[in-house]
Amino acid sequence: MADCVVLASGSGSNFEAIATRLADSPHRLLSLICDQPDAPVIARAERLLVPVLRISYVESRREAECRLERALSSLAPDLVVLAGYMRILPAAIVDLFAGRIVNIHPSLLPAFAGLHALERSYADPDSAMGISVHVVDHGVDTGPLLAQFEADRTGEPDLVQMEERIHTLEHRHYPRIVAEQLDAIDRYRGVRASR
Ligand code: GAR
Repeated sequence: MADCVVLASGSGSNFEAIATRLADSPHRLLSLICDQPDAPVIARAERLLVPVLRISYVESRREAECRLERALSSLAPDLVVLAGYMRILPAAIVDLFAGRIVNIHPSLLPAFAGLHALERSYADPDSAMGISVHVVDHGVDTGPLLAQFEADRTGEPDLVQMEERIHTLEHRHYPRIVAEQLDAIDRYRGVRASR
């Protein structure tokens, strides 16, 4: 068994896909951490009985980041999973969980790193579209890639249709990759314990 925490800011469709996948595994999803008070992901977590921690950035970003760091330190997950988390993690948190933070991004990195990746890649008719899962480092969407999948761009889809195709790919692959990472952490711990 290994533990993870999911950080999300928005709709939470990836959060829900991950929570559903992990419910059928030996691993534990300890908490959803959300930085947006009214994000739909909160209702999804409540429905799935996943504990929710809200961290407000309204008053002070510095304090919010300290609270986030304290929360993650005390939960002590094996893996931190970013699923539509629209903030840059402070360096202290990246260091604390070095190599154990994963992110999903709606483009074929290194193309279209940063905000509005889907819209920007859609606006360029010559660019391939898809998703990337990567380990988080100190840059913005620059960490080592774990997997990439190209989306079907044929048939002149509009932006909404393209977003659906991207989400379908994300829900198919991200929960599986998260579960595989947790399996690997668990196996590694078993090997070390048996030495
Ligand atoms: C997903 O498409 C994810 O790739 C993207 O936000 C969306 C969240 O959807 N993440 C980023 O853009 C990170 N830079 P969801 O809330 O329905 O899971």
